[in-house]
Amino acid sequence: MIVGVPKEIKNNENRVALTPAGAKELTKRNHQLFVQSSAGEGSGFSDGDYESAGATILPTIEEVYSSAEMITKVKEPIEPEYSLIKKDQLVFTYFHFASYEPLTKAMMESKSVCLAYETVEKPDRSLPLLVPMSEVAGRMSVQQGAKFLEKPMKGRGVLLGGVPGVKPANVLIIGGGIVGTEAAKMAAGLGAHVTIADLNLKRLRYLDDVMPPNVDTVISNEFVIREEIKRSDLIIGAVLIHGAKAPKLITRDMLTDMKPGTVLVDVAVDQGGCFETTKPTTHQDPIYIIDDVVHYSVANMPGAVPYTSTLALTNATLPYAIELAGKGWKKACSDNNELKLGLNIINGDVVYQGVADAFGLPMNDVNGYLS
Ligand SMILES: NC(=O)c1ccc[n+]([C@@H]2O[C@H](COP(=O)([O-])OP(=O)(O)OC[C@H]3O[C@@H](n4cnc5c(N)ncnc54)[C@H](O)[C@@H]3O)[C@@H](O)[C@H]2O)c1
Repeated sequence: MIVGVPKEIKNNENRVALTPAGAKELTKRNHQLFVQSSAGEGSGFSDGDYESAGATILPTIEEVYSSAEMITKVKEPIEPEYSLIKKDQLVFTYFHFASYEPLTKAMMESKSVCLAYETVEKPDRSLPLLVPMSEVAGRMSVQQGAKFLEKPMKGRGVLLGGVPGVKPANVLIIGGGIVGTEAAKMAAGLGAHVTIADLNLKRLRYLDDVMPPNVDTVISNEFVIREEIKRSDLIIGAVLIHGAKAPKLITRDMLTDMKPGTVLVDVAVDQGGCFETTKPTTHQDPIYIIDDVVHYSVANMPGAVPYTSTLALTNATLPYAIELAGKGWKKACSDNNELKLGLNIINGDVVYQGVADAFGLPMNDVNGYLS
């Protein structure tokens, strides 16, 4: 198959869909690979790295789109890309259709085949192409929290791990899923006293078994959260209710119970945030302060560490990309239900219930399109 990797053009997006190692895996299977010039630059990969892996470098985004049967990228296409996508072209990327109608309509009009990373799903209902970014954001949340706890960064002036003779900081993590677990490992490793709150007792039992002794678990409810926030220095929001907006677990009035200079990192900002006072921020201007409480709520945290994020993402996407390139999307999706669940739009028709529901569009049976 002819596979194309365009350079991401969304603002501040430095990731790339394929590493040179991934390029090699495709070319050694006799796929023809076109990579746009400088596509890997933001992640530390040169055109020469891709050429050594057997790819051909094309100078413009137009040439990549017009040459390829399958496009693999990172972010959803943005407006200048809409008209580049062709009928029957397979586009394998994050789309998040339900959150943006113009993109949905544009992809329907393109008559392409849209296979969305975010809806590829394993039999246990986990989302293998979202997990790597949650891992990055979870680990980063502690790094960012530690930084903004420093006095010159407007925080309390507390060192997470303390020192001999001085107690460590208290870190509260609300939500013990992927983000929360990775955050807890980092905070515990730095010597902080960590508390994880979750609704799911089974998950808390697991975390209690595997976490080091400086990590406690508590059940999540309003009473417990009101108590915990009084002694916390860093609070990380990491909840997710699948398919729904995040619940507001810290309300505006609770801020006055916190110590001045407490840092809130709301990783769940992309689902609306789990703190009432959360509003999305950017890497350029990541924090704001309300009632002496520092809020960090960057919606694309992994974007700040593109090298790590690119490797983490491509580790997860590459096996699927190889399957799609090797078999073609129809056979690959017939054989592999995980990939089939990634199909959102085919030849102008919506085949994913969440997208149809979001915009009142007719829902079509995906099986009717597979060979
Ligand atoms: N900002 C970013 O850059 C970024 C990056 C990756 C992920 N995220 C977001 O981080 C959030 C967490 O993702 P995840 O992959 O860890 O999800 P996950 O499904 O693995 O974990 C979510 C956890 O929240 C728990 N939960 C649900 N309601 C709760 C409540 N009321 N109190 C306490 N816990 C509750 C669930 O039981 C679950 O354990 C999501 O909103 C995700 O979109 C943001």
